[in-house]
Amino acid sequence: MNENIQFLHAFLKNPLKVGAIAPSSPELAQKMVEDIYPRRDSIVLELGVGTGAITKFIQERIETDDSYLGLELDKNMVRNLRLNFPDLKIIRGNACEVHSLHAKTGLGKVGFIISCLPFVSIPNEIGEKILLEIDKFMEQGCVFRTFQYAHGFYFPSAIKLREHMREKYGKSKKSQIVMKNVPPAYTLTWQTK
Ligand SMILES: C[S@@+](CC[C@H](N)C(=O)[O-])C[C@H]1O[C@@H](n2cnc3c(N)ncnc32)[C@H](O)[C@@H]1O
Repeated sequence: MNENIQFLHAFLKNPLKVGAIAPSSPELAQKMVEDIYPRRDSIVLELGVGTGAITKFIQERIETDDSYLGLELDKNMVRNLRLNFPDLKIIRGNACEVHSLHAKTGLGKVGFIISCLPFVSIPNEIGEKILLEIDKFMEQGCVFRTFQYAHGFYFPSAIKLREHMREKYGKSKKSQIVMKNVPPAYTLTWQTK
């Protein structure tokens, strides 16, 4: 199935969990992977892989296939991802449990988190649990990058994420707006101090 149709299908089935009407554009994907160099002992963890719009760009930057771990909740997406990225480890699961899910894989330490999770539309208590999981990786010295849509930048849940991260990890590095994305978005990056 075409990537856009598959995405739209998933969105119509569960709009709040998917959180976007279209996959990230190549321009946004490029920004999301800028300056990251995952290695076997400092892997990249992609949260909310979707149809793999960003995964393609991550794959070009990883040292070895075992420098990557993808996590996705939707079982149909996971099935397709495994067909499209047979060499990468992509697991089905909830980001609320990502720290122990990663531990079970036996892969190396997480050095980079690329999060595409729709914090704006997922319930508050789930978002809070996920942030606590992310903290566990950050405590071990990790880079966290996410994107936020321009129209939702001042939604309370978007602000909440930024405040949580700023309190713990300082000011974010915010990209220029990526206009070539539906909808336009910024990337935000934090690193353990
Ligand atoms: C906005 S889409 C991003 C998809 C893709 N990475 C992209 O940039 O085009 C968000 C993805 O996060 C997944 N997701 C939502 N909540 C999740 C959770 N708690 N754990 C893991 N994945 C989740 C959704 O199923 C969806 O595929």
